[in-house]
Amino acid sequence: MNAAIRSITRCAIEQDWSVYGVHGGYNGLMNGAFAPLTARSVGGIMQRGGTMLGSVRSKEFMTEDGRKKAAETLQNQNITGVVVIGGNGSQTGAYALSQLGIQVVGVASTIDNDLTGSDITIGVDTAMNIGLEAMDRLKTTASSHHRAFLLEVMGRGCGYLALMIGITGGAEVVVIPEIELNPEEVAQQLRAAYDRGKEHAVAVVAEGAKYNAEKLIAYFREHEVRIGFELRSTTLGHVQRGGAPTAFDRLLGTRLGAGAVEALQQGKTGVVVGLQGNVVTTTPLEEVAGKTKSIDPKLFQLAHTLSI
Ligand code: F6P
Repeated sequence: MNAAIRSITRCAIEQDWSVYGVHGGYNGLMNGAFAPLTARSVGGIMQRGGTMLGSVRSKEFMTEDGRKKAAETLQNQNITGVVVIGGNGSQTGAYALSQLGIQVVGVASTIDNDLTGSDITIGVDTAMNIGLEAMDRLKTTASSHHRAFLLEVMGRGCGYLALMIGITGGAEVVVIPEIELNPEEVAQQLRAAYDRGKEHAVAVVAEGAKYNAEKLIAYFREHEVRIGFELRSTTLGHVQRGGAPTAFDRLLGTRLGAGAVEALQQGKTGVVVGLQGNVVTTTPLEEVAGKTKSIDPKLFQLAHTLSI
C-alpha cells in the first residue's frame, strides 16, 4: 500500500495537484484527518509493509449518515477526488461514496485476492511468500521427524493464499472455504501420503475454512488413537500481513497508484484500478462492490494431483 501511496502522490504532483493523506481510513475521511503529502514525505516508505496512513475498519462509515458526513467533510475542505486503497469492504464503501457525487477511484489491495476487477491485488505476493517460507521451514521438521503438520494461513472467506501456498510448497492436502473437506478426509489424505512412502505430511488450511486449524486439531485429538498419528499446527495469523513487500508488490502498488491518478485525470469515477492480463485497467465499482472473485477449481484439482 505504501508503494501505491508514493506513486499516487508523485504522479498527482506531476499534474500540479495538491495531495492529502487520509489518516485512519474511513474514520479519518469522516473526521477530516487529512495531512498534506509531498514528494519528500512519501520517500523511504516503499520497503515498509502496511500503510503509513493507518487503516481502520469503520462501522460508522457503513451507515448512510457516516457516508454523508464523509462527503460533507470532503466538500468543506475542497477535496475534489479520492483514491481508496483496499479490498472488498473498502471498495464497497468507495462505491457508496461515489454515489454521493464524489469523484472516487479505488485501488485493488487485499492479501485475500478475492476482489473482482484485478487478477492479483496488492499484498497477495508478499503474503504468499511469507506463507511459503513457513511451509518450507515446517517441512524440515516434518521430514526429519516423520510428522504430520497443519499450517493455517490467512484468508477470511477465500482460499486463494492457502491454495497457492499448498501448490508452491507441495502440501499433501489443502483445506479452503470454497471446497469443503471434512476432518476424516483430511486424515485419510495425510495417512495416504505416509502410505505412499512420504517422509512428511503437511496440510495447508485457510483460516476461513469450515474446518480450520482449531477444529481440525480438536478432531485429531479426539480420534488420535484411531487415526494413528498426531497432527501439530502452526497458525501464521497477522505475521503474514507484515514485513517488507516483495518486488512484485512494490511494482504492482506503483503501477496501480499511477493508474488511479490517470483515471482521476481522465474524469473517471466509481471505478477500481486493477491489473488484468498484465494491463492496468479500470472496472466499474458497481461490478465489484459486494462481490467476491472465486478460485479456479482446476487449481484445486492440480494441488491434489501434485500431492501424490
Ligand atoms: O481481508 C484481509 C485479511 O487479512 C483476511 O485474510 C483476514 O481474515 C482479515 O483480513 C483479518 O482482519 P483483521 O486484522 O481486521 O482481524
